[in-house]
Amino acid sequence: MQKENGKNIYFNDEAYHVLNSYLVNQKFDPKNVFILVDNLTYKHCFPIILSHVNFLNKSHVIKIRTGEKEKNIYTCIKICKLLEKLKATRNSLIINVGGGVITDLGGFVSSIFKRGIRFINIPTTLLGMVDASIGYKTGVNLDYIKNEIGTFHIPELLIIDPFFLNTLSRTEIISGMAEMFKHGLIANKDFWIDMNKFKLEMAENKNICNDLIKKSIFIKNKIVTKDPKEKGLRKILNFGHTIGHALESYFMNKKEKILHGMAIASGMIYESWISHKINDLSMIDYEEIESSLSSFYPKKYVLSDLDVEKLFIIMEHDKKNEKNKIQFSLIKRIGECSYNYEVPFSLIKESLLKC
Ligand SMILES: NC(=O)c1ccc[n+]([C@@H]2O[C@H](COP(=O)([O-])OP(=O)(O)OC[C@H]3O[C@@H](n4cnc5c(N)ncnc54)[C@H](O)[C@@H]3O)[C@@H](O)[C@H]2O)c1
Ligand SMILES: [Zn+2]
Repeated sequence: MQKENGKNIYFNDEAYHVLNSYLVNQKFDPKNVFILVDNLTYKHCFPIILSHVNFLNKSHVIKIRTGEKEKNIYTCIKICKLLEKLKATRNSLIINVGGGVITDLGGFVSSIFKRGIRFINIPTTLLGMVDASIGYKTGVNLDYIKNEIGTFHIPELLIIDPFFLNTLSRTEIISGMAEMFKHGLIANKDFWIDMNKFKLEMAENKNICNDLIKKSIFIKNKIVTKDPKEKGLRKILNFGHTIGHALESYFMNKKEKILHGMAIASGMIYESWISHKINDLSMIDYEEIESSLSSFYPKKYVLSDLDVEKLFIIMEHDKKNEKNKIQFSLIKRIGECSYNYEVPFSLIKESLLKC
């Protein structure tokens, strides 16, 4: 199968047909296929995959502990050693079955093991489906700096099956929805409106969201296909993430941990305020964003001046920075975003303490 940017995404039953044919056509020995899972995806998702793809019954399963803490270079080394022990070759295939932690980690290992082997992503969280598995970025954290070590590596196939979401917690669903709201805010106002119309139903009844998931994937995929290496346009996907990532890193090792999506939802509110102040975002749009997101993602922390200083230090390490300046992507109106804004510390501080 020809691997082509953005043309390797398959949904529901068709996806399993394509996966079955791929494994047969590429003449894989099942023992040369390695399935990366975490404790929970092994329990909830792996049996579903086996029921569709019999071929994988004899493949090796590599299981790691669940959670962001595992997304580091030491886990990668452990996986590489295991691959070596299991006699993986340059022709091996890794199939990542899990959320963003597994697809980031497994994608990264695939890109470095023996200078790069093939991989397939089967995302099993909402965030994994609409965001982490789309767009060829792989990577791991360096201590508390998110995704500091990473590569671009294109999966052979992307298998999207929203059925996996039936076992995912409501909190994880709501976390994943933040990226969908973001897709509306940066690129498609109608999608933002749809998300607001269906957000409560989507959080309660995961089955109705197939169509929204597809649309969200198409929005992200269109952007990354135009700018795969993040030279320009792709930066708009970072909206909400400059401050959001800092919050996520800051709270990573505290009692009151916050999920990626929750951090990004707060980040989008702060960065909408900044957009209002320096990018002509109207007060009406700001208030709409603020009221929609803050009611859906109630804030569980209060920031002090000291917290703000520490967050700023984390932002200074952000990979997106250029010439030692923190770079923001800001919206002009709902559905339109641009990138490379330098924002003074005083305004970042104002947003963090005010919003
Ligand atoms: N590469 C990218 O472009 C990109 C984009 C966005 C986010 N990310 C990364 O993604 C990660 C977050 O991903 P995530 O939110 O999917 O987290 P995750 O992978 O930790 O999954 C969340 C939890 O859900 C469990 N789980 C997964 N699927 C399940 C299922 N179907 N049923 C029950 N439980 C299930 C997992 O075991 C885990 O406990 C972060 O590390 C973030 O940096 C990467
Ligand atoms: Zn994100």
